[in-house]
Amino acid sequence: MLQVDVVILAAGMGKRMCSSLPKVLHPLAGKPILSHVLDTARTLSPERICIVFGHEGELVRQVIGDHSDLIWAKQAQQLGTGHAVKQALPYLSNQGVTLVLFGDVPLVKSDTLKALIEKAREDNLVLLTVALDDPTGYGRIVRDPVTNHIQAIVEEKDASQSQKKIREINTGIMVLPNDHLGNWLDNLSNANTQGEYYLTDIIAMAVDTGIPIETSNPAFDWEVAGVNDKIQLSILERAHQQDTANRLMEQGVMLADPARFDVRGRLVCGNNVEIDINCIFEGNVHLGDNVKIHANCILRNVVVSDESVVHPFSLIEDTEIGKNCRIGPYARIRPGTQLDDAVHVGNFVEIKNSHIASESKVNHLSYIGDTEMGSRVNIGAGAITCNYDGAFKHQTIIEDDVFIGSDTQLVAPVTVARGSTIGAGSTITRNTPEGQLTLSRIRQTSIANWKRPTKDRS
Ligand code: UD1
Ligand code: MG
Repeated sequence: MLQVDVVILAAGMGKRMCSSLPKVLHPLAGKPILSHVLDTARTLSPERICIVFGHEGELVRQVIGDHSDLIWAKQAQQLGTGHAVKQALPYLSNQGVTLVLFGDVPLVKSDTLKALIEKAREDNLVLLTVALDDPTGYGRIVRDPVTNHIQAIVEEKDASQSQKKIREINTGIMVLPNDHLGNWLDNLSNANTQGEYYLTDIIAMAVDTGIPIETSNPAFDWEVAGVNDKIQLSILERAHQQDTANRLMEQGVMLADPARFDVRGRLVCGNNVEIDINCIFEGNVHLGDNVKIHANCILRNVVVSDESVVHPFSLIEDTEIGKNCRIGPYARIRPGTQLDDAVHVGNFVEIKNSHIASESKVNHLSYIGDTEMGSRVNIGAGAITCNYDGAFKHQTIIEDDVFIGSDTQLVAPVTVARGSTIGAGSTITRNTPEGQLTLSRIRQTSIANWKRPTKDRS
């Protein structure tokens, strides 16, 4: 099998981002654009991955992290793409091939790269090219008019008027034979309009060496689009989101509007899932069969099991939701929560780090924190757990078949035993006995002949 090294060029300045954050660290679909390139590179199981870094490089390295499969090659001065690849040369093998990727071209697909590598041998050179209606700004692929063989790549700034009319462009992504690479890089000159060492100049050298040049094309133009400014970043964000949406719709997911749908991580859906507009899915989200997510919900690292419905404006994080649950509208479910089957969580309810067993209901305006709740419990409107004493968190245990009256405060640590009923408005500070009514409110009294004060009008 052909041995593949990957070099990712990521030393550019990214001036046009107008940001103190290095360009390659700007997020696309919730992760740095360089991480997209890296993750795709890893799907190819390369021998090694070398990232050429420079501008604000230490921060890039810190964010991406040192991993055993990564080599970081510093390019102190940005003298061109050829110079950049040369910085990686000491780390590359002298056999096999090197795939060159750009750190600011985040959406190239694994399949596109696999097809490119499939054409590569130790004695040829393969370019990923694409024909664009507007090729302005790109290096042009110059072919022999008779044989159609590639002769060179000419950069826009060095191109003649007739070369500028060529629509086939260099995406920058290419596979190079390692055996020749060092020699070619050593012979680059910067005698061009930009005074840079162009990687693209090695094409003409390969032609001179008699090395055949092949091309391959991506499935979509946006795969090879680079990010230079925030407008381009936003266009690629939407292209990526539309692509994600298309994959889900192909599997049968019903999206009210793919243009108002964002996945920042991985969303896995069962059959017959419906998602209304303006929902954001972050981290790992799994939606089971027949799940419905209504408008304006945010789910981060959540499992929603079959038949459950999340009503509008709910925010749910690090939570597992069982089957047939009904959540929201306006529910906030915080990390560490597990809801068993057929649980109802209603509007303006906050739940944190709690387990709620099946068929229990917390329907209105409650706070449930650090709680172990049994089955068939009903929590009345406005009831809360007082789980924090200012220094420590304490647990509340609510056993099966408990009924908590509205506006109750359960001062933790406290256990409400099986079958208890708590009268509305109670402050419960001690454990309650099984099956009894417990209440802590003063008796209602009425004062006969009492008069409201009045203003003296004389
Ligand atoms: C390059 C290609 C051009 C191609 C275009 C595709 C060359 C000479 N030209 O042009 O043919 O059509 O990409 O987008 O290769 N970089 C470094 N160190 C440097 C210079 C660049 O790491 O010294 C990195 C950049 O961070 C970027 C990539 O290389 O990720 C491309 O550099 P850029 O300056 O954008 O090249 P272009 O002029 O766009
Ligand atoms: Mg560029």
